[in-house]
Amino acid sequence: MHPHLERVLVTEEEIRNRTAQLGADIARDYADKNPLFIGILKGACMFIADLVRAVEIPLEIDFMAISSYGASSKSSGVVRIMKDLDRPLEGRHVVVVEDIVDTGLTLAYLRDVLVHRRAASVKIAAIFDKPGGRSVDITPDYCGFTVPNEFIVGYGLDHAERYRNLPYVGVLKREVYEH
Ligand code: IMP
Repeated sequence: MHPHLERVLVTEEEIRNRTAQLGADIARDYADKNPLFIGILKGACMFIADLVRAVEIPLEIDFMAISSYGASSKSSGVVRIMKDLDRPLEGRHVVVVEDIVDTGLTLAYLRDVLVHRRAASVKIAAIFDKPGGRSVDITPDYCGFTVPNEFIVGYGLDHAERYRNLPYVGVLKREVYEH
């Protein structure tokens, strides 16, 4: 275990198994829809890479980068699109692939943007859900793991850009981010 972690929350094997299940669920639901998977950079990079390989139907992939202003461990609610989609999404069935839903502000904003651009449907796949942090009413349609209201890193999730490459997810020690 990385020395900056208090404990491991979800192991590499658990992530692999759960992602395979989610992929099978999505493949069943979108069999003839040629869905567009939109990965939210950078946190969802690991998850979207693993997820799409478990979705054995025709699909397309695009990415958006979103920045929320303010401190790194708290969502401010103000969201800006730093990288937009490469192609129009009108009429497309969209699966937004996110690392974690905390306050829900990022996804609530993004969902509105995608609906406004006339996507045929918009669903959310998040590998982690932190319902204890929620400030708006949003629930991922496909969720990997429910996690406690603590700051976690690994499998794409960072603190100040570190720890994204850990293949598992753990709770960051408080003293690492409170100084
Ligand atoms: P929300 O808008 O509060 O739902 O925040 C979503 C974003 O905040 C995620 O995509 C993450 O980038 C970041 N985030 C929220 N909780 C954590 C965490 O525990 N560890 C790392 N990043 C987090």
